[in-house]
Amino acid sequence: MKAFKLPDHFLLGSATAATQIEGGDKNNSWYNWCEKGHIKDRSTCLRANDHWNRYKEDIALMEKLNHKVYRMGLEWSRIEPQEGRFDDEAIAHYRDEITLLLEKGIKPLVTLHHFTNPLWLERMGGFEDKSVVWYFERYVKYVVERLGDLVSEYITINEPNVYATLGYYFGVWPPGVKSIKRLLKVYRNMALCHITAYKLIHKIRKDNDFPGKTMVGVANHVRIFDPYNKYNPLDILAAKIMDYLFQGSLTKSMATGFLRPPVGLGAPKGGGRYFDFIGINYYTRDSIRFKGFRNEVMPGTPRNDLNWEIYPRGLYRICKKYYRLFTAPIWITENGTCDGEDRFRSRFIYDHLYEISKLCKEGIPVERYYHWTLMDNFEWVEGESARFGLYHVDYDTQVRTLRKSGRFYGEICKRLEVTDDMIDMYLKD
Ligand code: FCB
Repeated sequence: MKAFKLPDHFLLGSATAATQIEGGDKNNSWYNWCEKGHIKDRSTCLRANDHWNRYKEDIALMEKLNHKVYRMGLEWSRIEPQEGRFDDEAIAHYRDEITLLLEKGIKPLVTLHHFTNPLWLERMGGFEDKSVVWYFERYVKYVVERLGDLVSEYITINEPNVYATLGYYFGVWPPGVKSIKRLLKVYRNMALCHITAYKLIHKIRKDNDFPGKTMVGVANHVRIFDPYNKYNPLDILAAKIMDYLFQGSLTKSMATGFLRPPVGLGAPKGGGRYFDFIGINYYTRDSIRFKGFRNEVMPGTPRNDLNWEIYPRGLYRICKKYYRLFTAPIWITENGTCDGEDRFRSRFIYDHLYEISKLCKEGIPVERYYHWTLMDNFEWVEGESARFGLYHVDYDTQVRTLRKSGRFYGEICKRLEVTDDMIDMYLKD
């Protein structure tokens, strides 16, 4: 292990999502899903981290780790609890939270949609029905008109491919559908929602003379798909097809406005350049076999608690590829690992940031890194059992305890480097 430095302007912090931390909201599609008994450990997002009431404490946790940036989500079902009825108190709450972040010198990146829908929207067909484009636009308008003087950076949609595939193809997330036809409708509508929101946010912020450069993008979930057997041409082909179907076609459709099959055809909202940064959520690699189109984990590789392969080089490969495709600043909008015992998180952080430092040296403009995640939180169907946090959370008492890896990360946020002393202190057994 070698010491390394990140560029002086590099910004580090962490990422969370509203439903995973706030607690207390029964009006969203995930609460319903929990109630139906779909969560592995029977926990519910109603509890989560009680962040809605404890946000001041949690911002202090970020401050302690020297965060310069923080990616946070808004809960649509709180802001628009019934169709067309907006809750000014909910948005005032978010204003308070964001104001405090700014006071602490932490720049917010706000996610408008992160996997959950208000129940009224879900009942009307959610992202499957094309009316969602109109509803989403109205919601985004309400939000940006009220937060736009504080927030200049937005993610329209988090991981549209994960949302759509798990909810409409595998049926393990709400609404529990298994249909390719319906999945493709969701892909298309999400692309149209993004493009519409992109244009709207720029318009609102341009029309009003707000401070800060407006930056809008998508948090793309990007995986590495490698052939299970790199000498087998059929496995190679299968890996390419998977890559295109799961991420390539959708990412390009959203970025350019030109819908690629199977997402769609033509440019219903006009062609353009609908991103100001390349948002990448990176976690792992899949190894693809042509036989049965199965994805497996490469044998003999290191894994996290959820059996996801730990493959830091993948981050390097993805950034190179996406920079070649889109040529824009890269923000790693999520990267982290599930490690309940905190055995390998420090090494994970080191290895991934090391890859980023190499990219920076090569002139690829990776500018930010948002670690997933600040504290253990409600991890969708894994519930409270999967622990990704820099802070350990005791859900019964809501006590947050800094992990050793969290301390390591906090030092990196402050110093923008890993020194030999830090390697001795955090990375040697
Ligand atoms: C990503 C999600 C995020 C979290 C991490 C572990 O796919 O965007 O909410 O669940 O995985």
